[in-house]
Order: sequence, then structure tokens, then C-alpha cells
Amino acid sequence: MFPGIESRPEPKRLAMGVRIRRVRESSCRPRVVVDGHRLISFASNDYLGLATHPAVIEAWSTGARVWGVGSGGSVLLSGYTSAHRELEDALSDWLGRDRVLLFSNGYMANLSVLQSHCRRGQTIVQDRLNHASLYDAVRLAQGHLRRYAHGNVSDAARQLAQAVPSTGALLVTEGIFSMDGDQAPLAELARVACAVGAEFMVDDAHGIGLWGEVGQGTVASCHLGQDEVPLLMATFGKAFGTYGAFVAGPADRIETLVQKARPFRYTTALPPALAVATHEALRQVIGEPERRTWLHEQVDYFRRSALELDLPLAPSRSPIQPLMVGSAAETQTLSKALEARGIYAPAILPPTVPRGKARLRISLSAAHTRSDLNHLLEALHSLCPRRI
Ligand SMILES: Cc1ncc(COP(=O)(O)O)c(C=O)c1O
Repeated sequence: MFPGIESRPEPKRLAMGVRIRRVRESSCRPRVVVDGHRLISFASNDYLGLATHPAVIEAWSTGARVWGVGSGGSVLLSGYTSAHRELEDALSDWLGRDRVLLFSNGYMANLSVLQSHCRRGQTIVQDRLNHASLYDAVRLAQGHLRRYAHGNVSDAARQLAQAVPSTGALLVTEGIFSMDGDQAPLAELARVACAVGAEFMVDDAHGIGLWGEVGQGTVASCHLGQDEVPLLMATFGKAFGTYGAFVAGPADRIETLVQKARPFRYTTALPPALAVATHEALRQVIGEPERRTWLHEQVDYFRRSALELDLPLAPSRSPIQPLMVGSAAETQTLSKALEARGIYAPAILPPTVPRGKARLRISLSAAHTRSDLNHLLEALHSLCPRRI
């Protein structure tokens, strides 16, 4: 697929799934230093550039001066503060949902929702491409997993129809898929869930902050409220630029989480200073819509230009722009060749993506300039001559 680069046989260590950690020696911005090399990064989920926003950094510093650096305990013991509660209240106002519960991270939030809302043996119907945390959550919940073809509403309805009627079912999808960047057909999925009385959960880790009138995410942008999607989970580690996660929904669902979710109860609460910083990030998400506008313009520009160059982009309108290569070895070679041209775009390999679907996950941010994108496009063009 990429005649400009030499394909090598699949190295043994790849087949064994060994991963290496690259060391970034600079802050989370498009210009990075990785293992001593200055590169333009297309590898971060800091979609709005808030990880280094001066107001968010200032809020974190102020929060640390007021609260110290740690929370000192689990939420149910002593770790829950007014800083946490103010953030939860601000999020529930913003989203128009009864209540919000903060979590240490998205992985634990997903474990918590499935473990606390599903009875043993209950059917959990998931999109085949859902995040690993949602699959791991099925094990903790001791649920019965059924997977439907990616984005396929009739297959989802078929799987739901197979659920044992007495145990009920939970339908789970991502809003924007983390490795493919495409959007789930949320309105249709909500309809099929409602038709069989199944609970519906959306993990909007990659949609929150980016979609909707004031960034409330893909669920709001599809005009769905908490009646249609009672369980909305999202993270702060992406568009918000900080760390942590939340679940928002009707009061009874949130209370169930507080009472039953083990990954919520048996862990140290988020540092309150982080809640203060995330609260400021929320103000930026709401108050600086131009970041979202610029990001979507950049996505359009990148897609138009890449498609003119005949690059094999997946159909995604989000800042996640996967360049589909196929073979793991070829993807790694392409990633290395880009790095030699000053670009950091790591290869995404099986088992993170299905075998034969290795790719570069090009991730765009409002902090990228037009010239950053042009640099990437030129490098891809030189490595991937137009196919005839
Ligand atoms: C779709 C999705 N859900 C959940 C998570 C987990 O979130 P966190 O990184 O906060 O644990 C991620 C992050 O990688 C994700 O992409």
C-alpha cells in the first residue's frame, strides 16, 4: 500500500505483543521531544489543547495551595470535598442530567457502571469495537456478553432480542470510536434499546467537549436526554486536558453506583486540586467555542487534502483520523519513516485493533497550526505516492 517504504517481515517480538514505552521529555503540546528527538506530535487526545491552557494550570496550582496535592482517602471515607461536589454540580447543570458522579478514571467508571447495573448472567450487548475497559467490565459484572457488528443497528437489535427476558439487557456503545473516529448511530440504538426495555449506556470519552452546542458531546448533539440514554460516561483525559471521569444520569442510577460500584468505593478519591483544574477546563469548553470550531475546520482541511492525495483514511469526521495500512510491520515502518521526517504518529497494532487493520491513529488538536498539518500531509505524500 505504501510503495515508498520498504516492508519488512513481521518481527518476532511484535507477534508476541511486546510493547515499548517512548519517553516524552516535554509538555503535552503539538511540539514534543520524544527520546531526545524534536517532533510534531499527532498522538495526543488533548483535542482542545487544554492540557497546557494557562487558566487550567493556574486553577490546578491554586487548588493545590488550598487543598494540598492528594485527597487523603476514598470518597466514602474522607476524600470527597466541596471541590468535587462543585464540579459534579457544574457538570450536571451543563449536561441537563439529575446527577453526576466523579471517578478516578474512565477505565474504573466503565467497570463500575457494568458491575453495579448488571445482575450476574445479565445480557450485555456491545459494539464489537468498544473500548477494552467495557469488555473487561463484562467480566467484573459476570454478565453474558453479546457483540454486534460495528455500528450495525439491526445486528444490535438481533442481539438484544436474544437476551433472556427475565434478566433484562444493557446496550453499550462508544459515542465516537477511539480507534476509528467514527460516530455511533446513537438515535437508532436508543430506539432499539427502548423497544425492548433495555438499559442504554454511552461511553463518550472521545465526544465530550467536541460535539453539541456547548460541547456536551455526541449524546446531546443527537438530541438525546437522560430518558433515552440513562447512563452517560465520559473522561477528562481527552478534550478536557486533565484526568478522571464521570457518569451522569438519573438520580437512581447514580445512587446505585455510589452504593454498589466496587471500583468507585475501593480507591482513593481524585485529588481535589484536580477537580478544581477540571472545573476550569469545563469553563473553557463552554466559554471558548472557537477552539471547537477551529478543530473541526482543521479536521475538514486535513481530510480534504489527504483524500486529494489518495491517502487511505477511514471515514471519520472526528479529530481521530485513522490512516489504514493493514499489516503491523508496514504500519511500524511507516511510523518510523514519519518520525525521520519530524512527525510522531505511533502505529496502532493488534490486539488494540483487529488483525489486518493496523493503522496510524492520527489525532488532531486545536493546538495544531495549519502548517503542522501541511508538514504531516507533505510527509505522508512523499511516503505514499498516489495510487494508480
Ligand atoms: C472509549 C474510552 N473509554 C474509556 C477510556 C478509559 O479512560 P481513562 O483513560 O480515563 O481510564 C478510554 C481511554 O483510553 C477510551 O478511549
